[in-house]
Amino acid sequence: MLTNQKKKFTLPAGSVYLNCAYMSPLLKEVEKTGIEGIKRKRNPSTISAEDFFTESEKLRHHFARLIHAPEPNRIVTIPSVSYGLATVAQNLKVDSSHNIIVADEQFPSNVYPWLRFQQERKATVKLISPPQSFSDRGKIWNERILNAIDPNTRLVALGNVHWTDGTKFDLTEIRKRTREVGALLVIDGSQSVGALPFNVSSIQPDALVCAGYKWLFGPYSMGLAYYGSFFDDGKPIEESWMNRKNSEDFKALVNYQNEYQPGALRYEVGEHSHFIQAPMMIAALKQVVQWKPENIQTYCAKISREPVRLLRESGFLVEDENFRGHHMFGVRLPAHADFEKIKKRLKKNKISVSLRGEVIRVSPHLYNSENDLIKLAEVLTR
Ligand SMILES: Cc1ncc(COP(=O)(O)O)c(C=O)c1O
Repeated sequence: MLTNQKKKFTLPAGSVYLNCAYMSPLLKEVEKTGIEGIKRKRNPSTISAEDFFTESEKLRHHFARLIHAPEPNRIVTIPSVSYGLATVAQNLKVDSSHNIIVADEQFPSNVYPWLRFQQERKATVKLISPPQSFSDRGKIWNERILNAIDPNTRLVALGNVHWTDGTKFDLTEIRKRTREVGALLVIDGSQSVGALPFNVSSIQPDALVCAGYKWLFGPYSMGLAYYGSFFDDGKPIEESWMNRKNSEDFKALVNYQNEYQPGALRYEVGEHSHFIQAPMMIAALKQVVQWKPENIQTYCAKISREPVRLLRESGFLVEDENFRGHHMFGVRLPAHADFEKIKKRLKKNKISVSLRGEVIRVSPHLYNSENDLIKLAEVLTR
């Protein structure tokens, strides 16, 4: 059982940070690595041609370990989820007979690419919403998604958990159904990978795209994506010299190549060497792999059980434990509660959570204690 890890961070005393789903705080070790990376550019003669590739290579191995991917070469560096999903869209043949299924109210980066298919190719985008009623909400939502997948479905795109309230989607069943109809499964892992166990070998998604600055504890503007064999011979959205065959040979760069790097390596973002950011991301991934997502779930479950009970007792609604992650959950207000007043109280008590629509999104991590969540419950129920 993991113990509290606050000493590994420099979070200010007197405030409560329950907002990892917004952005993780910086680990001291990652900060130190970033400063070393900055200093490295003082003397560029220490940066060799080989170094342009070594950090990304290490990065994919560390991420592969986290997601249990047997082929690290399927992993590339991306600057954002929107970029990783643009690669998916670029390689998808979609016409007016097709539909694309998205769980309702996905993060916009996982909606706009598909809406473009609707506008430009007259495909249908089906946004599958949860039931209005709160009883069996997660279960019914999952059933609705499964029922919506039909032989015209080209793609199902969703997170492992919903980004506003942590509702879990049953990726195993969704994968099964997408296989039956020949649809792709693309997962936005930004709000789960790192905190919730994810196994590429068992889910076998066609693509998994993750922002790095939340549950992976990396710097902003760097994420990671995994592409399955469907994308092996595809076209990248940009023509980076680094993604061409033999680009490691700096002497021969103007022997222009028709061939890309093999498989998914063609989808690396331009300048993926990221001399400052990549070592930071590696340091962060090492820590996350050492903690282990299953242990993070256990820890978050333990510190949140009693506070959630207190909230429910006062009429707040929180999804059933079986249908949400423990690292992230939505708190819905009882009818009499005043959202604006609650917002002010949270601010006054220096409690950082996210307000997404009508939901208070609470996202604890190992730097939090049960007391942090009890304080939140007290402020909400007062
Ligand atoms: C589910 C999800 N996906 C993606 C992102 C970030 O997307 P992008 O990297 O395109 O800015 C967020 C940010 O909050 C998110 O919650």
